[in-house]
Amino acid sequence: NLPRQVVMKEVGPRDGLQNERQKILTEDKISFINQLSESGLKYIEVTSFVHPEWIPQLADAKDVLQSIKRNQTITYAALVPNMRGLIRALEAEVDEVSVFLSASETHNKNNINKTIDETIPILKEVVQEGLKANRSVRGYVSTVIGCPYEGYIEPEQVLKVVDALFNMGVTEVSLGDTIGVAVPTQVEKLLARLFNEYPPNVFAMHFHDTRGTALANIVKSLEMGITIFDSSVGGLGGCPYAKGATGNVATEDLLYLLTEMGIETGVNMDAILASAFFIEEKIGRKLGSKQLEIARGK
Ligand code: HMG
Ligand code: MG
Repeated sequence: NLPRQVVMKEVGPRDGLQNERQKILTEDKISFINQLSESGLKYIEVTSFVHPEWIPQLADAKDVLQSIKRNQTITYAALVPNMRGLIRALEAEVDEVSVFLSASETHNKNNINKTIDETIPILKEVVQEGLKANRSVRGYVSTVIGCPYEGYIEPEQVLKVVDALFNMGVTEVSLGDTIGVAVPTQVEKLLARLFNEYPPNVFAMHFHDTRGTALANIVKSLEMGITIFDSSVGGLGGCPYAKGATGNVATEDLLYLLTEMGIETGVNMDAILASAFFIEEKIGRKLGSKQLEIARGK
């Protein structure tokens, strides 16, 4: 019982680039996003309006968001941690904002310098003001299966922060396996618990592929009714405040899987591969997705 269509949400320009050490020129980020805009993707997370000292790579968030060539059929989103971030994002005419927190107390503290209880009222105001400004608001929950500091996270703990986000008024929650530890049996247990309270179509899955289990987790999620997946071109990515976190599942590997399973995405493989080769050159290290390796061998 697989879905006929899936929405692929590209997070490479944000989740991907935030973890790259080498400074990437603003104009190269803009070209990268403009290329992605030609690939049939309908959603691109462009950057984040966090504290520039915490994520120096994305300190040019406003310039990037304001300078890209907008395709009217695409939602251009950005991450915001607080009201200061929301104001900056609105000034740059963001289409959608994403707020974020962790299911794990320790990761939350390391990532955004607050406890979960301190974070909730801050995000609540951001969501309210974002909706008032006619923006849609997405919520992320990090460490939904495992935390680098606390280990396995129980579904009940995830449900608590998911409830908090939906109570604020977010329209979708993206469930992040931040450090790529999840396996399908754990994904099944988590989703079964969440689906007792919410329908599958309000969730997206956000898998990092640290241990090569992302596609297996995606198949399990598809079988359970999930129709939205986050991915990064070339498998770029990671959270700098989660030790051992590496890239997201690669957009081109996800695309191959979905297409061969007969699931529509509207995304063009050649365009995705071209943008991966482009950004690979700019970050100065080889990206390692399966589809890129195959394309290199051609
Ligand atoms: P803080 O230092 O506690 O902030 O950082 P504060 O509220 O105490 O403010 C201190 C100063 O920072 C103030 O300036 C603020 O104005 C300024 P001062 O008055 O001292 O001159 N400030 C800002 N400036 C610009 N933009 C802002 C902003 N906010 C405050 N938005 C904060 C708290 C949340 C800001 C900081 O910890 C932070 O930016 N953290 C972000 C870390 C991050 O980006 N992590 C990666 C993204 S999450 C992720 O990757 C996971 C995900 O992919 C899902 C998954 O894989 O699980 C989403
Ligand atoms: Mg992530």
